[in-house]
Amino acid sequence: MKKEVAKLKIAIDGPAGAGKSTIARLVAQELGLRYLDTGAMYRAVTLQALNKGTPLQDEAELVRLITSMDLEIVFHQETGANLVFINGKEVTEEIRKPEVSDHVSLVSSHAKVREFIVALQKEIGKQGQIVMDGRDIGTVVMPDAKWKFFLQASVEERARRRQRELDQNGHKIDLLDLEEQIRRRDYLDSTREISPLRKAEGAIELDTTSLGISEVVEKVLDLIKEGEQGVQASSCRS
Ligand code: DC
Repeated sequence: MKKEVAKLKIAIDGPAGAGKSTIARLVAQELGLRYLDTGAMYRAVTLQALNKGTPLQDEAELVRLITSMDLEIVFHQETGANLVFINGKEVTEEIRKPEVSDHVSLVSSHAKVREFIVALQKEIGKQGQIVMDGRDIGTVVMPDAKWKFFLQASVEERARRRQRELDQNGHKIDLLDLEEQIRRRDYLDSTREISPLRKAEGAIELDTTSLGISEVVEKVLDLIKEGEQGVQASSCRS
């Protein structure tokens, strides 16, 4: 009988700044899996729309923009990072700038924009052996993922983390402004009509407020290893 190839799929969802992308990248590296930062795709579309002066509330114009742009996400095996290219130009850092963060929730709220991007993500996820992070991975993009995590953290802690990250990239932003920005994005991401941010059924919820990155990574890896060992042991018995 043909041996079934394991298609490990790990979905990590949660609000902005909960630590998803760092955790997802490190978990993928530890397990030798690919990693896809799905938010980077919405950010790339937002950056392109801002650069081209596309009205962000105009769904049809945004779809035209998406279908005319060449969006490429390259998984960098050594660092586990995702490098983002638009029409061959690298924009990995540019998509993180505050102007993009301010507008990405609006762009990602359009049904047709999501349809297009989600189809790409589903295609990438199909082969498995992947960790994806976002808002709707466990609910929409990879509902069949065996492992689903939902990361949470307080708004204050998430703002502090965002400030540190922006600081490293040379952007100085007031902490209270960041808290406000995060609250607004939480509201928009969780109240939008299409695929709102919510915990998938069966997802494991982890509050990362008082945990360091390595502690969360360890927890996630322990849970997966225990679960996968359990499966192996029971399939040996049968
Ligand atoms: O994870 P991030 O902050 O880079 O995501 C940017 C935005 O993209 C976020 O405000 C919501 C949206 N997003 C989404 O709607 N669905 C995803 N799977 C990932 C991100």
